[in-house]
Amino acid sequence: MQNGPDDGGPLLELEGVGKSYGPQQILKGIQLRVMSGERVAIMGPSGSGKSTLLSCIAGLETPDQGRISFMGQDLTRLGEARLTELRRGTISSVFQFFHLLPTLRAWENVEFPLLLARMSQAERRERVDHLLEEVGLARRAQAWPSEMSGGEMQRLALARALITNPALVLADEPTGSLDSRNGERVLDMLSQLTRQHRSALLLVTHDSQAAGICSRILHMTDGILSEQQAVE
Ligand SMILES: Nc1ncnc2c1ncn2[C@@H]1O[C@H](COP(=O)(O)OP(=O)(O)OP(=O)(O)O)[C@@H](O)[C@H]1O
Ligand SMILES: [Mg+2]
Repeated sequence: MQNGPDDGGPLLELEGVGKSYGPQQILKGIQLRVMSGERVAIMGPSGSGKSTLLSCIAGLETPDQGRISFMGQDLTRLGEARLTELRRGTISSVFQFFHLLPTLRAWENVEFPLLLARMSQAERRERVDHLLEEVGLARRAQAWPSEMSGGEMQRLALARALITNPALVLADEPTGSLDSRNGERVLDMLSQLTRQHRSALLLVTHDSQAAGICSRILHMTDGILSEQQAVE
């Protein structure tokens, strides 16, 4: 699995990205560059378009203006099949409410993204065990998500996101439903794991302390993304 482009160009580049829902323009002329391994936070009020932006980057929504290139390829021009192929394993997401698969045990949730990669069962097991160990869940491998605490579920979701060595991790309020102690633990792990795996990180958060794990903070206001941090 490759981790980032090899030409030294940006990993992710958005140029003039716009997105409307009906008459309402949600994203307006978004410019953004993220380099391999770079960590960028996006802050901004509720409804300003942060999650919509991540959905466009993840390929879950299609922008109606502009260009998104990832690893040198224009995502907005790729067909569905090539898009899925490019994304698989190279962009991972972490959400506020975990999005774990309830019918799979903890270790199976982490293994799941690897089922699509050509990899032996032994290698999959080894990687899963290693990551569960790293997020402090080795002993919870057989648990069902419904038996886990919020903090455990989010650490599991982190392991699942990192298992493919993604070039880019998109995290949308990953500590939003955790108490401060668990939130801190998850943030520490997110920070450590993205560094270890050399993954770039785009972190949406309301919490300026959380944004502190990033080297750059951007601000979204009414669909406009700016480098300058607004005074809150
Ligand atoms: N699928 C959709 N259809 C119609 N409108 C939508 C859709 N998704 C989002 N919106 C609208 O787009 C705007 C931006 O939503 P978005 O979820 O991106 O905001 P956000 O910045 O992530 O907010 P929050 O901090 O509350 O998560 C909101 O007004 C929302 O109602
Ligand atoms: Mg949101």
